Amino acid sequence: MRVMQKSRAKAGGDDAPPAIALPPPAVALYSASVDFGAVKALNQIDLRIEDGEFITILGPSGCGKSTLLRLISDLVPPSAGAMSIFGDSTEAARLARQFAFVFQSAALLPWRTAVQNVRLPLEMGKKMAKKQGRALPVSAQSPEELLEFVGLKGRENAWPHELSGGMQQRVAIARALICKPKLLLMDEPFGALDEMTRDHLNLQLLDIWKKTGVTIVFVTHSIPEAVLLAQKVVMMKSQPGAIKKIIPIDLPAKRKLEMRDTAKFNKYAAQLRKLLGAH
Ligand SMILES: Nc1ncnc2c1ncn2[C@@H]1O[C@H](COP(=O)(O)OP(=O)(O)OP(=O)(O)O)[C@@H](O)[C@H]1O
Ligand SMILES: [Mg+2]
Repeated sequence: MRVMQKSRAKAGGDDAPPAIALPPPAVALYSASVDFGAVKALNQIDLRIEDGEFITILGPSGCGKSTLLRLISDLVPPSAGAMSIFGDSTEAARLARQFAFVFQSAALLPWRTAVQNVRLPLEMGKKMAKKQGRALPVSAQSPEELLEFVGLKGRENAWPHELSGGMQQRVAIARALICKPKLLLMDEPFGALDEMTRDHLNLQLLDIWKKTGVTIVFVTHSIPEAVLLAQKVVMMKSQPGAIKKIIPIDLPAKRKLEMRDTAKFNKYAAQLRKLLGAH
């Protein structure tokens, strides 16, 4: 934990204010870049995401949104700059299972039932921990409880092919939550779903966020989805991939689908559309 003010002794006086210990941010990037050969996928990204925030990322195709998530999750190294995850290196955060991923495709193992798919990271983590002599991963809830949490009570023993796309994605979210991550990285998780299912899952995700306190970084191509979910929208631009603007969304904390019809919501949407250059 970092101490932001000098200690009393160091400040040298009884009148000095007491030290305040601030928790480290969930994600801190300092001028971080990623090059793939000649392609500058990310150029000097400065980004700070506080513990417990819900951030959405918007930007044209190829601007580096997925690369940003891969950088945060230690899947690609920075070519330049520095970064930390909850005050630690990305590698330490990965080994401690501080974060989990949800992709556009649920990618469930077809030979495992829903509950067996949810349990998988726990089983794999235990095997790896044993091999490396590290502490075993812990689960906040049982796989069955997590399935109930995402609204799939009664479907624990269903095979993936017996579940709809939205249900499969909910299994993927339960699977991502099994090792109690502090950070959830979501790359267009609802992009392949119909609008009604997406609406429903958006509300369910907000509920999960509220109940677990997990920090969420969510990539989407949908402007209304980005506004509805986020406390802040990070707008990116391409060639090279960089942050164009960060827009705080000042809507009531309890988000509702009907908010999309309000003038304030539409003002944010119009602002983002303009930034995207798609109006
Ligand atoms: N492994 C890789 N090797 C080489 N180039 C890569 C690699 N991964 C990504 N790129 C390049 O980096 C740039 C950013 O790609 P990225 O996948 O992060 O974009 P994106 O914003 O997620 O796009 P989309 O919205 O289409 O998913 C692109 O030019 C892409 O071709
Ligand atoms: Mg992508």
